[in-house]
Amino acid sequence: MKTFVSTVSVLALGLSLMACAEREATQDEEDVVTTANAEVSETEAIFSAPEVVPLDRFTYANYNEVRVTNADLTFDINFDTKVIDGFAVLDLDYLNADAQSLILDTNDLDIQSIETRENGSWIDAEYELGADDPVLGSSLEIALTDKPQQVRIAYSTSPAAEGLQWMSPEQTASKEHPFLMSQFQPIFARTMAPLQDTPAVRMTYSATVRTPPELVALMSASQDDGPRDGEYEFEMPQPVPAYLLAIAVGDLSFKAINDHIGVYAEDYILDASAAEFEDTPAMEDATAALYGPYRWGRYDLLVLPPSFPFGGMENPRLSFLTPTLVAGDKSLTNVVAHELAHSWSGNLVTNATWSDAWLNEGFTSYVENRVMEVLYGEGRAVMERALDLESLRRTVADESDPALTQLKLPETIGHPDDAFSSVAYVKGMFFLKFLEERFGRDAFDPFLKSYFDHFAFRSILTEDFLAYFEDHLWADNPDAVTEAEIKEWVFEPGLPDTIEAPVSDAFVQVSAQQAQWLAGDVSLGDVDTAEWTTHEWLHFINNLPDDLSEENFVSLDAAFDLSNSQNAEIAFAWYMQAIAGEYTPAKPMLETFLLNVGRGKFIYRLYEALIEADERAWADDIYQRARAGYHPIAQRRIDEIFNG
Ligand code: BES
Ligand code: ZN
Repeated sequence: MKTFVSTVSVLALGLSLMACAEREATQDEEDVVTTANAEVSETEAIFSAPEVVPLDRFTYANYNEVRVTNADLTFDINFDTKVIDGFAVLDLDYLNADAQSLILDTNDLDIQSIETRENGSWIDAEYELGADDPVLGSSLEIALTDKPQQVRIAYSTSPAAEGLQWMSPEQTASKEHPFLMSQFQPIFARTMAPLQDTPAVRMTYSATVRTPPELVALMSASQDDGPRDGEYEFEMPQPVPAYLLAIAVGDLSFKAINDHIGVYAEDYILDASAAEFEDTPAMEDATAALYGPYRWGRYDLLVLPPSFPFGGMENPRLSFLTPTLVAGDKSLTNVVAHELAHSWSGNLVTNATWSDAWLNEGFTSYVENRVMEVLYGEGRAVMERALDLESLRRTVADESDPALTQLKLPETIGHPDDAFSSVAYVKGMFFLKFLEERFGRDAFDPFLKSYFDHFAFRSILTEDFLAYFEDHLWADNPDAVTEAEIKEWVFEPGLPDTIEAPVSDAFVQVSAQQAQWLAGDVSLGDVDTAEWTTHEWLHFINNLPDDLSEENFVSLDAAFDLSNSQNAEIAFAWYMQAIAGEYTPAKPMLETFLLNVGRGKFIYRLYEALIEADERAWADDIYQRARAGYHPIAQRRIDEIFNG
């Protein structure tokens, strides 16, 4: 433990008491909850979990009074009406024995009936649906008399539910069957079922899903291994937050990779996916060697249609993936390492509020990179970190609100989406790299392993991590870092000087050749690109000068056919340059890309860049045609890009 001279420690104590008192004075009783996670901290501790934990601002749930501990769900999937008829039986645990109501989150749900179970029989309950908030949806307040242990709700989802994409047969690869996929992180589980939709609350779940008999349903749970018959049973016996519920329905096939890892996909891409992701078992071994056993039973991958709005989503036991990862050369499989790593950071130890999202994404990006190093070597891991740092520097430079470049975000963020910039991912990863470097892997690796064990199946705050770090790593080596360094990394905006910029020898070579070509010393034919991986191409393209001439664009495209790249990352990087440099011959392939790929990371920035480059009319015309094929999450984000 750090030893303070007494005046300092009295001062620090005084300050933290003041901060505490202030918090209590400005928030009413309902807004605070005593943490279950608070570490027993010694008085001179620098970091400690707050005694009163701020509630997640993006939920209506009164989870400090009553908690949902299990959801038993029955879903009838209706493709014709794009509606799920749902029936939810929720088990309750009382933190306050006198709780008068249960408040749940809903968004666009049509509630048909609500009953509570009292003394063995179901009784109609009084309830009230609150006003619709554009971000939060509506609260559902259910009166509790005589402390019922269960409540059951019959309801239907809306065809416009933001967490669900309903695809017509024409929008799928086979063109024969419809498809349904969910995306509930951060706050869209409430568009599928009335729940306590906050990462602070964990519950187990089971489900029965009825679909057209020719389709398969999958969930983030144990899969139904019975026949394809249109009725499927699921069980998730480990408690998870609502954002980790997930469902997909379609004409899906399965291919095993080993005895507990496999891939689900539409037939057209099944074999290619199993080949692309064949290193997943080695990734699991590498992660488990560092951080302890994989605790979820099976680990499967689901390759979705290209409108899936993310690269990947860590739904437990079944990561969802964009098909754009299937590049043919395993060059984009870091996303699998990432989603798998969330089985520890995120799914096992979860951020309690979205302001702590770096605990999920920063840790996961760190673990991902460690795993890539084990599997493919230091060179690739360094290249990936270097590319990440380039994108972080751009984010920090472009962000007008400095508070959004802190790891621990202020409670005032407007939408949980704000928590998922490269700050949480990359600044978070580099903070952990900084700690790794200062304490050494011999100390840091066992520390992280014990962290995952200690907080397993709990939802925690940044302060919980810091208190644990202080007691279990820093205390053993007090001179490794200073208090000011830690506070700067976590609570201050921008990038600390202590960030260690990765130096990739491969990238140094690429840059040198690029400089020679730009200076006219060599022609493109002399640039030795034969051995370049995707990463080197990305470095090359991202670092082209802003004033690249039309002639240079033309010769790059002639030499390397970049406009037609089948690697989505390379194509995206090239289109960004083409837009900024007004290189119009790339436009037809950019249009095809926008019409076919719905991955937000690419298309949000492409539309933004087009608008900035005075191509609004052209972009708008494409968007009008592409919009129906995008996931509702992407539709909302791009509507915002065009409207404001
Ligand atoms: N959990 C995220 C996806 C997400 C973020 C969903 C924010 C909803 C809100 C997932 O683990 C992720 O980070 N995916 C990245 C891949 C990664 C390698 C950076 C992606 O989709 O690009
Ligand atoms: Zn992630």
